[in-house]
Amino acid sequence: MSLSLRRATIEDADTVSSLGARTFSETFHHLYPPEDLETFLAHAYGLEGTRGDLAHPDKAVWLLEDDGEAVGYALAGPCDLPHDDVKPGDGELKRIYVLKAHQGGGKGSMLLNTALEWLEKDGPRPLWIGVWSENFGAQRLYERMGFEKVGEYFFPVGEVRDLEFILRRDSPPPR
Ligand SMILES: CC(C)(COP(=O)(O)OP(=O)(O)OC[C@H]1O[C@@H](n2cnc3c(N)ncnc32)[C@H](O)[C@@H]1OP(=O)(O)O)[C@@H](O)C(=O)NCCC(=O)NCCS
Repeated sequence: MSLSLRRATIEDADTVSSLGARTFSETFHHLYPPEDLETFLAHAYGLEGTRGDLAHPDKAVWLLEDDGEAVGYALAGPCDLPHDDVKPGDGELKRIYVLKAHQGGGKGSMLLNTALEWLEKDGPRPLWIGVWSENFGAQRLYERMGFEKVGEYFFPVGEVRDLEFILRRDSPPPR
């Protein structure tokens, strides 16, 4: 097994887009009617939007590859969560996903640490994460990294409205 973690480039748009759709479906497909899921995936994980993320000067995407197969990714950038305390210059972990068959072995933590370090490469700043209210596993992971719940909002997927928690970390926890 050879693991490699690297910044994705515009050349990886197809890979990031299909891994994004696949991991979102794997995790959340049971929550939505199929037509809502299809519409959401085409919009949120389409090639055009993915290319936009990869080309964005203030965003970064990482790919985790296992023997050359993309098994996880993370996306970070400026915060655009709907919370009154979000300031220009705050950062956000926007997405982090590992294929089910590869979870539980430290890969998500590798991606998370890399993204958080990048978000604070120019010094500590408030960092934000939106997480589904019932995604207890991910919430545990974020709590360990110093994130606390500071708000809630509803995230639309087709006709469904998901209750999302808004988490924030003001400074990194002591090592
Ligand atoms: C969240 C995620 C990226 C973590 O990746 P991972 O490779 O499983 O993480 P690691 O092996 O590094 O760490 C395991 C930790 O992840 C957390 N975790 C996340 N999802 C979990 C789950 N379904 N079951 C158990 N633990 C989970 C726990 O805190 C766990 O630590 P613990 O075993 O000490 O409780 C991965 O589980 C995933 O892709 N989940 C589905 C997508 C998702 O929920 N993304 C977050 C959206 S905000």
